[in-house]
Amino acid sequence: MKTVLSGVKPTGVPHIGNYFGAMKQFVQLQEQGNELFIFIADYHALTSVHDAAEMRANTRSVALDYLGVGLDPARIALFRQSDVPEVTELSWILGCVCPKGMMDRAHAFKDAQAKNESVNIGLYTYPVLMAADILIYDADLVPVGQDQKQHVEYAQDLQEKFNHTFSCDALKRPEPMIGALSATVIGLDGRKMSKSYDNTIELFEPKKSFDKKIKSIVTDSTPVEEPKDPENCSVFKLYKLFDPAGAPALAEKYRAGGMGYGHAKNFLIEAADRELNPHRERRAKFEADPSLVEKILADGAEKARAKACKTMERVRKAVGIS
Ligand code: TYM
Repeated sequence: MKTVLSGVKPTGVPHIGNYFGAMKQFVQLQEQGNELFIFIADYHALTSVHDAAEMRANTRSVALDYLGVGLDPARIALFRQSDVPEVTELSWILGCVCPKGMMDRAHAFKDAQAKNESVNIGLYTYPVLMAADILIYDADLVPVGQDQKQHVEYAQDLQEKFNHTFSCDALKRPEPMIGALSATVIGLDGRKMSKSYDNTIELFEPKKSFDKKIKSIVTDSTPVEEPKDPENCSVFKLYKLFDPAGAPALAEKYRAGGMGYGHAKNFLIEAADRELNPHRERRAKFEADPSLVEKILADGAEKARAKACKTMERVRKAVGIS
């Protein structure tokens, strides 16, 4: 049994990239009987969301999405990052052994700088808080998409640096588990699916607009009757995620010719419905019971906090502030 830790930022609502890159794996790891700590990364979202109503709505939406995809609060800790404030204490302490150059090299910061976006200190030190998230729960495994790999490596570096600096073994080394289903899910335009590219399909997008977005996926102009290359087609790449077992048969149809992209898109819609309909139904049930969702998050926070407090006892002792 492994201890698994991961989170999704409530900066918008989760999309298909978050699902196949991360959330679906959480459910698989839960089904394998691991100890899971899964949270809503609201402190991290604060680096860009500066509207309380938006933060509350997004947080609630991520909670419902987690429950919708099948995370079971009876077996795992499902919680809001900010309900375990000890993580900010660990973040500060890790920051005190973190070389500044590490933050200067962090992708998220460098990207924002390259785009001339204003960078707040929260964004700059984002990887330190993320390392604290990971290390405070003694995580063995961190399932994330490719774009978060550097952050998990920073958590490894900071774990080593902390234990070495204070000659202790207070913190445990985590390992990344990069996109077992898909390291990078592509979006409507063929680039990485991301809110910042405006190319996402929301995981729980209402069916009508979900289907409309699938129909809008960019394809090439190969005529219907001609053979097509499935591996070069965004529709096929998404289909493979929703229905890996059925993908070879669809690939055959591409190669044989006589099938237009419109047909392929219909197959994709059907496969997505088969996967998502049970999730849609489960989510709707939780959505109808807001106090239950609040209770689930409160119970999850209690479980998470108990573990975090134990780590913090070791950490405070190691640095001499207990
Ligand atoms: P976030 O909210 O941007 O994304 C949540 C998860 O979805 C994955 N992901 C993708 N995977 C494949 N293809 C894509 N197109 C795609 N887009 C997103 C991300 O890699 C991620 O696993 N910093 C994190 C949240 C966080 C966290 C943590 C995660 C905070 N603390 C501790 C793990 C451990 C983030 O912004 O993820």
